[in-house]
Amino acid sequence: METGIDHRAARALLEWQMELGADEAILDAPVDRYSLDPAPAPVSAAARPASPPPALPEAKADPVTEARSAAAAAPDLAALADAQAAFEHCELKRGARNFVFADGDPAARVMIIGEAPGREEDIEGRPFVGRAGQLLDKMLTAIGMSRTAPDHDRAVYIANILPWRPPSNRTPDAAEIAMMLPFVERHVALANPDIVVLMGNTPCQALLGQTGITRLRGRWAEVLGRPALPTFHPAYLLRTPSAKREAWADLLTLKARLEGKG
Ligand code: URA
Repeated sequence: METGIDHRAARALLEWQMELGADEAILDAPVDRYSLDPAPAPVSAAARPASPPPALPEAKADPVTEARSAAAAAPDLAALADAQAAFEHCELKRGARNFVFADGDPAARVMIIGEAPGREEDIEGRPFVGRAGQLLDKMLTAIGMSRTAPDHDRAVYIANILPWRPPSNRTPDAAEIAMMLPFVERHVALANPDIVVLMGNTPCQALLGQTGITRLRGRWAEVLGRPALPTFHPAYLLRTPSAKREAWADLLTLKARLEGKG
């Protein structure tokens, strides 16, 4: 722009305008700011294109919940055995040779519940077939009962809390019991025995929430709405023959109840 003034005069004019309150340099021609492209509006969070949510760690299935729904969906014992055999959350399954579900008469008045398969049971896929099982058979015979009796009054049905052998026959841990318990409870409901016999601490822990078999044995309790008799495990009787006297008393207690005398 040719103003016809030198730089000293231009500076003096500028200082004068500043004196008068000018605080912004403007152009000679006015600027129509409405006709200019609008400045991009700040994008609100709501208007921003949705970014995918951060990936959540994959939800781990809860074994107890899964066991409950698998067991509840089984309409009969065969379906329950299939559902339990297909259950993948129990590590014991990977170390076991066989799935051990039950033996005897499913319509028997008495259901015996033990702990878990041992070596022989793991090999054969049937509960109580080793030394402890042979002793159990003798004890039952002594009160006129057996797993093969043709009559439901004299027959027994036998299962365990766990269907897979724990390594070296160790005691089942609390998590293993908790994830198998829904299957055991459904097992009892479907077999519908009049009486449940709990052999040793593990079934007492699982179904009564109590241990201390020496104190519990021989006294009627209640399991899933039916009478339950805790007694010594036959493996304990093999190690402690002196306890056979009390086991015999428990068998007589069971017999009396079955005959309506207890
Ligand atoms: N001990 C048990 O508790 N169950 C079996 O099946 C065998 C031994």
